[in-house]
Amino acid sequence: MTISLIAAVGKNNEIGCGGNLLCHLPADMKHFRDITTGCTVVMGRKTFDSLPKGALPNRRNIVISRQLNLKSVGAEVYPSLDKAFLQLLNDEEIFIIGGAQIYEQTLPLADKLYLTKIQAAFPAADVFFPPINPKDWLVLSRETHPADEKHPYSFTFVELKRNTI
Ligand SMILES: NC(=O)c1ccc[n+]([C@@H]2O[C@H](COP(=O)([O-])OP(=O)(O)OC[C@H]3O[C@@H](n4cnc5c(N)ncnc54)[C@H](OP(=O)(O)O)[C@@H]3O)[C@@H](O)[C@H]2O)c1
Repeated sequence: MTISLIAAVGKNNEIGCGGNLLCHLPADMKHFRDITTGCTVVMGRKTFDSLPKGALPNRRNIVISRQLNLKSVGAEVYPSLDKAFLQLLNDEEIFIIGGAQIYEQTLPLADKLYLTKIQAAFPAADVFFPPINPKDWLVLSRETHPADEKHPYSFTFVELKRNTI
């Protein structure tokens, strides 16, 4: 099972503000959809609560929560990451989609990172992606998009693989 983290981060590793994303980048939404559709996505309960239309369609939604008896429409709820991962052993690749608490706990286990690096700082941000050590990661691909009328900032899709050498 390949464990992949996927996140959109600002210049200071910001990922969210007041329970929401940093900004709206339609091309990043499409990128996220293209990469995760048909696969399992794992998220913290707060990220699930922040999804505007609830569970993400055409994906197996897994929510991590300590709340006993929490039910989430369209999602399976597990009380720990370990218990969730036990159910996913047959998956070829699973996607950890946030938020900060869940990224922090899964970064040490991650095989791949799909990062959208937004070329802007967000001073009001209150949640952050954990620091990564560049020596631990090899860049597989990098694709930069300029700002335009639909995208207030330029951004770069970066795909990284853990350096096992
Ligand atoms: N930029 C991005 O790519 C991106 C992606 C995703 C999310 N976000 C942003 O990130 C923010 C949410 O992140 P967050 O760190 O506040 O919350 P989170 O990681 O989404 O969820 C935290 C919750 O997950 C549960 N949890 C965490 N660790 C657990 C464990 N070991 N065992 C059982 N349950 C556990 C707890 O739920 P209970 O309280 O129910 O027990 C905890 O309150 C939002 O602003 C969101 O928009 C950004």
